[in-house]
Amino acid sequence: MDIEPEVLALIQHAKRVTILTGAGVSAESGVATFRAYKEETQESLWSQYDPQKMASIDGFRENPNRVWQWYQWRRNELKNKEPNDAHKAIAKWQQSKTQNVTLITQNVDGLHQAGGSKDVIELHGNIWRNHCLQCLADYNGDVDGVETVIECPECGGQIRPSVVWFSEALPEQAWRDAESASYSCDLFLSVGTSSQVYPAAGLAALAKSQGATVIEVNPEPTESSVVDYCIEGKAGEVFKTLNI
Ligand code: NAD
Ligand code: APR
Repeated sequence: MDIEPEVLALIQHAKRVTILTGAGVSAESGVATFRAYKEETQESLWSQYDPQKMASIDGFRENPNRVWQWYQWRRNELKNKEPNDAHKAIAKWQQSKTQNVTLITQNVDGLHQAGGSKDVIELHGNIWRNHCLQCLADYNGDVDGVETVIECPECGGQIRPSVVWFSEALPEQAWRDAESASYSCDLFLSVGTSSQVYPAAGLAALAKSQGATVIEVNPEPTESSVVDYCIEGKAGEVFKTLNI
């Protein structure tokens, strides 16, 4: 795949890079995205499941065991997934001595950490962690194979996956860190996200408003109006070509 020399130069000469990733960065690891693009072969999650039933606080209150079992199914699906070239390249780039690289992800799969990233701003939480819905205490017990909602040992409440659900607020510190990284970068790289879900989808506009260049890596350009350049390709293949 060819990347325009002008785009390559922008990426290589940027001093402060902020990367925002979405489900597409894990697609080459075999993880289903939420909203498919036209050539995508794998069924997207929201075409098979109702997000309001499976990934919302109302859905959990209505039927806790159904939501718990859906996340147990997703954890089983994710268990044997490996980080791909994009995860590994981003982790290597974060070690750069000449560029300051900050990684923000909407993904909950932990594949950036598995690929070597030490610092990951997780806007939507992490599917491998659980906490109590009522008292918010972390729950570190082994949940493997547990098919019904666990009672919180601290307060008797309900243990839930530590994932941000629809209509829930994002983790405050993660959001502050993401805003700050978007305000202070000279390059904002949006990788594998449909840029449809706020507030994450608004970070590129924040970066743009302070003069950053916005580059998208996606097989299919999104409708985001603030993108300056789109590298049309799969994240793993693009990062292999970038060789940063
Ligand atoms: P939403 O439109 O309901 O609002 C997102 C939430 O983020 C709001 O409730 C608000 O508290 C907060 N927010 C919005 N703008 C903000 C800002 N400028 N500063 C700080 N906080 C702000 O979002 P949604 O589409 O209903 O989903 C909520 C979040 O949960 C989204 O980010 C979504 O991607 C995420 N989500 C995750 C999963 C998953 O499985 N990981 C599934 C569904 C939704
Ligand atoms: N490389 C790069 N991009 C890819 C690849 C790939 N190999 N495969 C698919 N894509 C792109 C698709 O074109 C699409 O634009 O990834 C994007 C995936 O978009 P979504 O499935 O909407 O995922 P995301 O943007 O992360 O969704 C945001 O919505 O439901 C919530 O909380 C959930 O975090 C998620 C949020």
